[in-house]
Amino acid sequence: MADNTLEIRNLNTSFFTQHGEVRAVNDVSLDVRRAQITGIVGESGCGKSMTARSVMGLVRYPGRIVSGRIRLDGKEITGLSKKEMCSLRGNELSMIFQEPMSSLNPVMKVGKQVEETLRIHQHVTKEEAARRTEEIFREVGISDARSRMACYPHQLSGGLRQRVMIAMAMICKPKLLIADEPTTALDVTVEAQILSLMKRLCEGGTSILLISHNLGVIAQVCDYVYVMYAGRIVEQADTCTLFDHPVHPYTRALLGAASSLRSGAARLETIPGGVPNLLHLPSGCSFSPRCEKCARQCQNEVPQMLPVSGEGHLARCYFANVPEE
Ligand SMILES: Nc1ncnc2c1ncn2[C@@H]1O[C@H](COP(=O)(O)OP(=O)(O)O)[C@@H](O)[C@H]1O
Ligand SMILES: [Mg+2]
Repeated sequence: MADNTLEIRNLNTSFFTQHGEVRAVNDVSLDVRRAQITGIVGESGCGKSMTARSVMGLVRYPGRIVSGRIRLDGKEITGLSKKEMCSLRGNELSMIFQEPMSSLNPVMKVGKQVEETLRIHQHVTKEEAARRTEEIFREVGISDARSRMACYPHQLSGGLRQRVMIAMAMICKPKLLIADEPTTALDVTVEAQILSLMKRLCEGGTSILLISHNLGVIAQVCDYVYVMYAGRIVEQADTCTLFDHPVHPYTRALLGAASSLRSGAARLETIPGGVPNLLHLPSGCSFSPRCEKCARQCQNEVPQMLPVSGEGHLARCYFANVPEE
């Protein structure tokens, strides 16, 4: 077994629009370690979902993967045929989305939907599928599992629907679960329950890629975090290091905005300026137009990911190793 369940190397995914190439995922390299929760955090529109969709083979026209490699459990999955990707999805690779209603069939009982997912991928009898569905419903914390299986999606609360989605994603025991903003539509109590369920799944051996724009969510459950900005990874570190010693000005700004929100500051600290247009990226660091520290080299050339003191900590900033005055 490979150490990393997922390895992405130099992934580029673009949309070819009438206005030009939109670089949604820009030279992204990322690992998801076995039985860990790895996070991707960043503002809306920075390429988190497109990174996930690239892994799933779900990038839609006019978008496509331009270059890069993706390995699942040591096996190259870039260049697999549609049919091969289809059999991988749901089986070895699963994804859950923010809004479970969009992925559930409204006119089919939820138990049946989960049973069918299992029967598509594995040759099991109807009875076996029903038995395993009831078992997984219990595992994901759906009380009264048998009667819940007979419900239609609209008869369940948002939290229960998300649990059904997680059950569906987990029924074939995937190697990797990608959760794209899985708690954004839920209130904080239910959010905490879903996050602790993810932790349990991970302790049971599932590797998880958790995507969120919310640093609080990331801090609660992730082992390791990638910060994305304008299609690129700009900083990566284990969770404690990232929150205690962020070095990229964008990560710091994100943390500043989050803490002013938490403390209920009269004025919300926001990051001045806007996210760059992915059609016309600045020639240097994408954050340079918003960065206080911006120097000439920042505007001329995109910095590489540079090691920062502390193992496994990297940042895409020329000043990553310059101590704060
Ligand atoms: N259908 C599309 N056509 C053109 N550009 C798109 C399309 N879908 C997404 N994009 C571009 O990809 C970028 C990244 O999108 P996405 O990965 O969904 O962001 P995130 O999940 O971080 O909010 C968007 O900012 C947008 O510019
Ligand atoms: Mg998204």
